[in-house]
Amino acid sequence: MSNNNYKIGVAGAGVMGSGIAQVMAVSGCEVTCRDIDQDVLKEASKNVDSGRFGVKSAVERGKLTEEDASSALERIHFTTDLDALNEADLIIEAIPERFDLKVSFWKELDKTAAPRTIFASNSSGFPISALAAATERPDRFIGWHWASPAPVMKLAEIVKGKKTSKETVETVSALAESAGKNPIVVNDSDTSWGYVTNRIYFAMVREASTVLNEGIADRDQIDQLMTDCFRWPSGPFGMTRGATSGWK
Ligand SMILES: NC(=O)c1ccc[n+]([C@@H]2O[C@H](COP(=O)([O-])OP(=O)(O)OC[C@H]3O[C@@H](n4cnc5c(N)ncnc54)[C@H](O)[C@@H]3O)[C@@H](O)[C@H]2O)c1
Repeated sequence: MSNNNYKIGVAGAGVMGSGIAQVMAVSGCEVTCRDIDQDVLKEASKNVDSGRFGVKSAVERGKLTEEDASSALERIHFTTDLDALNEADLIIEAIPERFDLKVSFWKELDKTAAPRTIFASNSSGFPISALAAATERPDRFIGWHWASPAPVMKLAEIVKGKKTSKETVETVSALAESAGKNPIVVNDSDTSWGYVTNRIYFAMVREASTVLNEGIADRDQIDQLMTDCFRWPSGPFGMTRGATSGWK
């Protein structure tokens, strides 16, 4: 698939949304990134340009040419206007992890977005079929779970809801692959939060917290032990700090 002229809408320009917008623009898509907060948009624009994982840093590391970096920046439009998302081919939602917020966001957008538009949620774990049920397009609704920092991490946990069509799965997987990610398609669960990655990660965090509360080791010791033992880049507590701050 050529991403040229493919229109992506990103909802939320925080830790995840700004990185997602950058990745999709670098891959050749036209990106409209919408947040409700003008200050967040300013910060996002700065991060995409010259943040730790922004395009300038990618140029310095030899990952991107200067020309590709500047055309990627030209392809991203930051806005507070919800209607600016209506003509996207695909909208990726990265608003806060609150079920009620996500449901009302998708319900509203479903009324105005073009009928062909695919909806993808970057939820960390809410059942995709439950979010899709807020819309009249459950066949064009999917989970696309990214990891932080989005420009660096390969994760594309593609979550297939009960009614997600084969075509939607194929389109989104192809798009993820062309953006340099490694799409793995998994099934949704009605009863559990976290798909595959976060169910397993939080099981580990629960156990690490039990070890901490029993006074066996402190946070830093636990992180160091897990790093030394398994060659993880970070232990359970450091991982949580990094994910919530965008690894700044
Ligand atoms: N931080 C991570 O490591 C990580 C990793 C994977 C997935 N996620 C998921 O991604 C989503 C976003 O997380 P984040 O860490 O980027 O949060 P964040 O708080 O950094 O950003 C969320 C942004 O959404 C904006 N927002 C709120 N309502 C909105 C609306 N209706 N339309 C547009 N923007 C709106 C907020 O102003 C905020 O800037 C969550 O579902 C989270 O669970 C986070």
